[in-house]
Amino acid sequence: MKIAIIGGTGGQGLGIAVRFVQTGEDVIIGSRTMEKAQAAVDKVKDLLTDVGNLKAALNPDAAKEADILVLTVPLAAQRATLLSIKEGAAGKILMDATGPLETAIGGLPTRCLYLPEGAAAERAQKIVPETRVICAFNNISSGALMNFTEPIDCDCLISGDDLESKKTVSRLIEKIPGVQVVDCGPLERAQIIEKITPLLIGLNIKKTCKDAGIRITGIDPECKL
Ligand SMILES: NC(=O)c1ccc[n+]([C@@H]2O[C@H](COP(=O)([O-])OP(=O)(O)OC[C@H]3O[C@@H](n4cnc5c(N)ncnc54)[C@H](OP(=O)(O)O)[C@@H]3O)[C@@H](O)[C@H]2O)c1
Repeated sequence: MKIAIIGGTGGQGLGIAVRFVQTGEDVIIGSRTMEKAQAAVDKVKDLLTDVGNLKAALNPDAAKEADILVLTVPLAAQRATLLSIKEGAAGKILMDATGPLETAIGGLPTRCLYLPEGAAAERAQKIVPETRVICAFNNISSGALMNFTEPIDCDCLISGDDLESKKTVSRLIEKIPGVQVVDCGPLERAQIIEKITPLLIGLNIKKTCKDAGIRITGIDPECKL
């Protein structure tokens, strides 16, 4: 599977890129500039011995070339970035990790912004209506993703309106050691999923740790509905 990480030069995108390279996917790291995309690719090459078909591209080209996309930009950049890839993203699945955190307006990362569209992932779906948006990777920290020699001790809560797309991304994400994907239901559940992120950041600060995560218990791991 060819996966483009749109805005893959920051902490979250790079971490997801590293993990998907490890699971054997063809990864394209996207950026607004080729220099930054190439620098991110070089970073991954420094970390891993086998990077397969890892490559750098501008965001619109990465979106066109890939089968599946992951969006990892700050909320303030979400709309412009999605508009820049709209054509290439049409008909594809896009996993949106955007956190609606107050930092987007200079506030605290422990507080959520209330968006008129509901969740950031719902906003994404409105901007790229021909793309199947799945809320994913909001609850796994970049630190846990980048600690690539260790399994990740965190579930990946996802939500979206297309069951087949959720099954596709679940199969991909669950190749990452330690991660259980929990399908939380329709895309509107992203309103809850995205609010867990500032909670985890707050716990990192309060408990002086780095990679607080979340596990859902009591569900049948074989039940993929
Ligand atoms: N970091 C975490 O632990 C974590 C955890 C869960 C969710 N998230 C969410 O994941 C997303 C990415 O987080 P991050 O920490 O990786 O963010 P980041 O490092 O601040 O930004 C990621 C990339 O987005 C692009 N970008 C930044 N500002 C932009 C702008 N104004 N316009 C267009 N592109 C811009 C940049 O790529 P180029 O300059 O290369 O184009 C940048 O490298 C956020 O929405 C965050 O809430 C993060």
